Amino acid sequence: MRELAAESVDLVVTSPPYNLGIAYRSYDDTSCRETFLSWCSEWAREVKRVLREDGSFFLNLGASPSNPLLPHQLLLTLTAPDFFQLQNTFHWIKSISIETKDAQTISAGHFKPINSKRFVNDCHEYLFHLTKSGSVRLDRRAAGVPYADKSNIKRWKHTGGSDQRCRGNTWFIPYETIRSSTDQRPHPASFPIALVEQCITLHGQGEESILLDPFLGIGSSALAAQNLNIARFIGFEIDADYLQVTRERLAVPATSPNKSPALPNDGEPELPL
Ligand SMILES: C[S@@+](CC[C@H](N)C(=O)[O-])C[C@H]1O[C@@H](n2cnc3c(N)ncnc32)[C@H](O)[C@@H]1O
Repeated sequence: MRELAAESVDLVVTSPPYNLGIAYRSYDDTSCRETFLSWCSEWAREVKRVLREDGSFFLNLGASPSNPLLPHQLLLTLTAPDFFQLQNTFHWIKSISIETKDAQTISAGHFKPINSKRFVNDCHEYLFHLTKSGSVRLDRRAAGVPYADKSNIKRWKHTGGSDQRCRGNTWFIPYETIRSSTDQRPHPASFPIALVEQCITLHGQGEESILLDPFLGIGSSALAAQNLNIARFIGFEIDADYLQVTRERLAVPATSPNKSPALPNDGEPELPL
């Protein structure tokens, strides 16, 4: 990243290792908390340097039930006075259960079940939107949803007659279900392509954007950039095999949808915690 010019990137969307002991092929995900936070400061300083003044840095962070403070500790580090401003906090919802109007409970999405008497299943991750000024303009409507009650379009002036409202900060983006985790999930911690597409659309700078992912994994953010015809994408990954998977995924013709590898879910053994 030190080779990239200052203020040369519009958008950074990334999911770094979380230091939760995940079995990556090359990276050791078990450093002590202090070392981890200072390493994160180091690469995030580079993110700040290469990001334009009106750029957006979307940082995806998860926790584990036995390590719930990690995202918050890292966020506090990255929002020190001369660092980033926290402009928005999004919740990436992987699974949700809601009650319908006719009092039925329906569930959608997938999660890794936890076998515990203390902890509930963890069905979300954070997506922190960090900027230099805290006041970067976003395209809320482009990343929005249609009104459920269409009469609101005429009733409220701020709609401007458009059937699209701000989606809010809870984003339901499920993994796809798979049968065999070994064949189809070549990386232990990838995020859905749609999560990155949503960030690109919300940032709203269009196809001319330059997008960076310093922790590429198997290239979900590169796939999102390709799907949305983003002018230039830059990614870094230390593991050659993950990089190879990225190349293969990018080579799939656009006619067949590039799917995110899914998370083994309900059919898988529970995590003992
Ligand atoms: C959470 S994963 C990212 C997954 C990615 N978002 C995806 O959807 O495939 C973090 C990745 O960072 C990589 N990594 C760790 N240290 C790195 C470094 N110093 N430079 C580049 N990549 C690194 C790991 O190998 C791992 O693949």
